[in-house]
Amino acid sequence: MATDTGVRILDQRTPQERNRPFLPGMGKTWLLPLYDIVSRVAGVRALHRRAVALAGIAAGQAVVDVGCGTGNLSLAVLTAHPDARVTGLDPDGHGLRRAARKARRNGVSLTLVQGYADRIPAENASLDHVVSALALHHVDNRVAFAQDALRALRPGGTVTIVDFGGPVQDGDARHHTHGHGQRRPPRAHLRLPHTPAVARNLDDGLVTLLVAAGFADAREVEHVDHPLGRITFVQATRP
Ligand SMILES: C[S@@+](CC[C@H](N)C(=O)[O-])C[C@H]1O[C@@H](n2cnc3c(N)ncnc32)[C@H](O)[C@@H]1O
Repeated sequence: MATDTGVRILDQRTPQERNRPFLPGMGKTWLLPLYDIVSRVAGVRALHRRAVALAGIAAGQAVVDVGCGTGNLSLAVLTAHPDARVTGLDPDGHGLRRAARKARRNGVSLTLVQGYADRIPAENASLDHVVSALALHHVDNRVAFAQDALRALRPGGTVTIVDFGGPVQDGDARHHTHGHGQRRPPRAHLRLPHTPAVARNLDDGLVTLLVAAGFADAREVEHVDHPLGRITFVQATRP
């Protein structure tokens, strides 16, 4: 556990969760050292900055970054709002240690919690924002994540998710129609991570997830056709 410069890592996994599988950032743990290089080259930082702007974080607010990985979204929040109280949550201890090193280098305070998206490290109704970047397609129990985000947010608090997915255009459906009138599964410009996990985000998958959990005003606020694939920004408010 590290505590210097306000950077700490807390292992909040239950004994059962120590053996719980998860999908790491690059798909394989040994590829993690490449994560930040790939992320930088792919222009992911601009997505983080946009998510931070859309989240509408105010001075001193409490923010949890779900699936924080190596901490880039958390650090983007702290760059824009140095006095925000930010916690990054991820099951991957290797990612969290990288996040901690970067936070120390940047001289910012950051709490990093080793744990899973379905148990957000916050008291009931205590958070102003839940944010998450490129992580929801990795999360196994997304329904429990959405329900726990609702629990942890105060009334009026927001969840802001940026991930692969979003609306499938008419042109996509035409493009993916092939022989004998069969339709391939819609891909919505998805190029790199065309997996069943990502397919859950297509069309209004993320919006439906948040509505079912009880969020108000869940909607795609924008999307971008990124070289990695269609990226959707989805936001909702705790009633
Ligand atoms: C593609 S990385 C995104 C990392 C970071 N948010 C970013 O934008 O660079 C996906 C992250 O989701 C994490 N993850 C996988 N399963 C998870 C779960 N059940 N709960 C929380 N995070 C999870 C992975 O460990 C990984 O760090």
